Amino acid sequence: MKIGVVGSGYVGLVAGACFAELGHDVVLVDSDDRKLAALRNGTCPIHEQFIPELLERHRGKRLDFTGDLDACVRHSRLIFIAVGTPPKEDGDADLSYVESVAKDIAGAVDDYKVVVEKSTVPVYTNGWIRRIMLSNGASPELFDVASNPEFLREGSAVADFLYPNRIVVGADSDRSAGLLQEAYKPLTDGSYSRRSDAIPGPVTPPFRARLIRTSAQSAELIKHASNAFLAMKISFINAVASLCEAVGADVEQVCEGLGSDSRIGQRFLRPGIGYGGSCFPKDLLAFRTVVRENGCQFGLLDEVVKVNEEQRRRFLCKVKRALGSLAGKKLAVLGLAFKNGTDDIRESPAIAVVRELLREGCQITAYDPAAMERAAEAFPAGEIALAPDPYEAMAGADACLVLTEWEDFAALDLARVKDRLRCPIVVDGRNLFDPAKMEAAGLNYYSIGRADVAGGPREVPLSATMERTLRDVATGNGRQPLSPFQKS
Ligand code: UGA
Repeated sequence: MKIGVVGSGYVGLVAGACFAELGHDVVLVDSDDRKLAALRNGTCPIHEQFIPELLERHRGKRLDFTGDLDACVRHSRLIFIAVGTPPKEDGDADLSYVESVAKDIAGAVDDYKVVVEKSTVPVYTNGWIRRIMLSNGASPELFDVASNPEFLREGSAVADFLYPNRIVVGADSDRSAGLLQEAYKPLTDGSYSRRSDAIPGPVTPPFRARLIRTSAQSAELIKHASNAFLAMKISFINAVASLCEAVGADVEQVCEGLGSDSRIGQRFLRPGIGYGGSCFPKDLLAFRTVVRENGCQFGLLDEVVKVNEEQRRRFLCKVKRALGSLAGKKLAVLGLAFKNGTDDIRESPAIAVVRELLREGCQITAYDPAAMERAAEAFPAGEIALAPDPYEAMAGADACLVLTEWEDFAALDLARVKDRLRCPIVVDGRNLFDPAKMEAAGLNYYSIGRADVAGGPREVPLSATMERTLRDVATGNGRQPLSPFQKS
């Protein structure tokens, strides 16, 4: 099938490369000439597993790059819009790129096309795109608009595309739904997973993806509701982690017990310094606006955002507590990307923490396995130093802070860590280490929702009511507790 993808960011590039991998003939359009030149040369503009392999396989064969949107529209039966929808001041999604692309597509439509929203957009965008196209001269019988949200995670986006939990097709016409079903057929009939050269995924072949056909509005809501639910899981466990710290419980044990209920599940219950990235923060704000504009109440979303913001503040307090004070402290920071497996630092909680530490007068030397180039752009005036490896970052530091969940950090040689640091303090915002091993290595270790390893046993805290009962018992003031065996 002939497919066009407008926008070669994370979503567009992954979708384009994967559709080519499924055997389609794909043209990717972008207005950024530098990016196009890089892609044509096989240079991958993002750090994403398997994208370099897919570019190598299909570039110049089934995958072309152009700046000419009209040519792309003429070439394609399906045109995916995958341009950015950044947040406006009020949190609403800014749809001006989508609008301008829809107008341009309208001017170039020559025979039947399906325009597919792939970008994350608020409910009713489908109908809005249709009206923009009609008012810009496209004849109604020559196009349909459908919604096909993506559920890709950065770092595992290619595997998520090729082995999806579900494919959602929100289409109000059977013709457009049929074409989208055809585009995804190698995934839904299991033939892709059986190919000897298939990109490996987390499943055993044959893998058949489930395709869910919905209305356009339902598809739009599925995307926002999915991200909001995942963010809620993260904020929930972060709030539980704070309670664990207050009562002396261990959040990792709580997660195991909680997540073993198959109705709850283990995934997305990792406590940390809060969620970040280009999706959750933006989508939560946009979803709140959708709720408000449609006259509904959904205060839970406000709480999810509030807990997330609070989590960073709590982490900074933890660092301050571990170090006594912050001003003038030399800190090693491990991890700047918003999560592991990516070089993306957009809305990274790690970057937010670093900025706050700089404001407090700390000196930072940072290392990230993938995001060094982006970090240099984020701190152009050299506000932080960048080290070539984690041990270099730690040289002579007053503490080491772990801010991104890279597996490489969990494998650090703890004896070397202790040796490199001036003070043996590790504050781990991602719970990558086993506290017992940190203790054995002679490190003072502070993590999320677990007891500090800072020398000396900790008194188990009690609730205020329990403390009062003990006081009353000690002073002989207490009333006798009621026995359930006592006759009244
Ligand atoms: C997220 C969703 O997971 C995708 O399904 C969705 O398609 C995508 O947004 C999108 O809307 O485009 P992504 O932002 O790439 O994907 O990253 P996630 O793996 O979801 O992580 C988001 C943030 O939550 C990261 O900062 C991560 O460190 C944090 N996180 C994740 C936790 O703190 N705890 C967890 O248990 C999981």
